[in-house]
Amino acid sequence: MKFTVAIDGPAASGKGTIARAIAEKFGFAHLDTGLLYRAVGRRTMDQGRGVVDEGVAILVAKELRPEDLKRPDLRGSLASKAASRVAAIPEVREALLKFQRDFAAQEGGAVLDGRDIGTVICPKAEVKLFVTATEETRAQRRHAELTAKGEKRTLEMVLFDLKARDARDAGRDTAPLAAAEDALLLDTTEMSIEEATAAAFAAVQEKLRD
Ligand code: C5P
Repeated sequence: MKFTVAIDGPAASGKGTIARAIAEKFGFAHLDTGLLYRAVGRRTMDQGRGVVDEGVAILVAKELRPEDLKRPDLRGSLASKAASRVAAIPEVREALLKFQRDFAAQEGGAVLDGRDIGTVICPKAEVKLFVTATEETRAQRRHAELTAKGEKRTLEMVLFDLKARDARDAGRDTAPLAAAEDALLLDTTEMSIEEATAAAFAAVQEKLRD
């Protein structure tokens, strides 16, 4: 059986949590596509001694290795920034396209979360969700996450970075962050994790019954 769930949304909207919950409940494989861009961004920075060079990023994306995704420093704020820089380079996105499409088409079902899954990577996905929340709520979630990891950043700094990243992701020319026309909108601002996952499960169940 082939069945694809495409989940898009801005940073810290809850899309990753929802994607993992769907994968576990329905036995689907899960790909956090943000991790691909984080890994490319981080290696590009290493090779450019802290600078994101376009040519280096393209080479890194073409030669991305599975072990690059296992680095422990991919969730930090440096990797977030580097990711959204390299993600604006069309050749980087092109280099990562086939891997994502092959992953989505695997037998047994797949759920992918990112920014352009429902619009570019899997426009024919059986289920499309666009998960969002207010900037303040997302910044609070991200701040709690970073604090738990030992990063000392104020809520204001996190909110500033998050707004800058959203603006870069939504404003780029290639595959900008956007909701697909046929995506179900899920605003998690006032929702518990249980409520948000229940709404997502219902959308998947309905399509599986069709
Ligand atoms: O989802 P996450 O915050 O880990 O993504 C990190 C960055 O990778 C995003 O800010 C975005 O620039 C980029 N990204 C993307 N397309 C995707 C997934 C992530 O451009 N499908």
